[in-house]
Amino acid sequence: MASEYPYQIEAPPRERLPRHVAIIMDGNGRWAQERGQQRVEGHLQGASTVREIVEEASELGLGYLTLYAFSSENWKRPAAELEFLMALLQQYLVEERPTIMNNNIRFRVIGRRDGLSPEVLQEIDNLSQASEKNTGLTLILAINYGSRGEIVDAMQRIACQVRAGELSPEQITESTIAHALYTNGIPDPDLLIRTANEMRVSNFLLWQISYAEFWVTPIHWPEFTRDHFRQALWDYTKRDRRFGGLKN
Ligand code: FPP
Repeated sequence: MASEYPYQIEAPPRERLPRHVAIIMDGNGRWAQERGQQRVEGHLQGASTVREIVEEASELGLGYLTLYAFSSENWKRPAAELEFLMALLQQYLVEERPTIMNNNIRFRVIGRRDGLSPEVLQEIDNLSQASEKNTGLTLILAINYGSRGEIVDAMQRIACQVRAGELSPEQITESTIAHALYTNGIPDPDLLIRTANEMRVSNFLLWQISYAEFWVTPIHWPEFTRDHFRQALWDYTKRDRRFGGLKN
């Protein structure tokens, strides 16, 4: 497996970890095509990477990990690829249950339910409910997620509250909006990782990543390892976060 980093990178100390890491997992298709394989082989291998990185995040003591598993724009893909991705997600939700429960991981999904099959929705609900009292890593899968759609849904919710007389327009603050988003109760990501060298945000957590640090790697998601993840975390510890202010 090609890697630009040495293996066995030391684990960053827990107190210096970002609270919340979000990842745009990209490059599954390219990874497969470069090997003369079908794109879906890349998704299959990508699901193994998901397992590794979730376990790593949990073992390191990370608070929140959000993974962009399926965007609202991904429905434009060929039917066979969509079918495969949905089956893979369903399989993940069933097969990962023991790992999630044994590692005290709380599981949550963000995204629109409309469009997902009853079977996938059932597995999402099962795992979310089974793990809701867990107190370790919170794993958030973005499934059928689009940030603009999330903001539309939040605005509709707030407009309904205004219409019902529960809220006046003047009372709307940044906190009102943050509470109306799917990510209510989840701190904003501190670090956003994107694989496969793409320098774009792709409708992911637009409100929430206002002050996230970016870390982009040429590594394709199927070959992203625990060491790449550790490297991203170490690099994050060296960033100077000023939030628009001046250096201390
Ligand atoms: C991007 O690769 C990846 C996706 C659109 C889906 C991500 C899915 C997985 C990692 C596997 C299943 C997930 C779980 C949680 C089990 P791409 O197909 O856009 O790659 P390309 O840009 O090289 O074509």
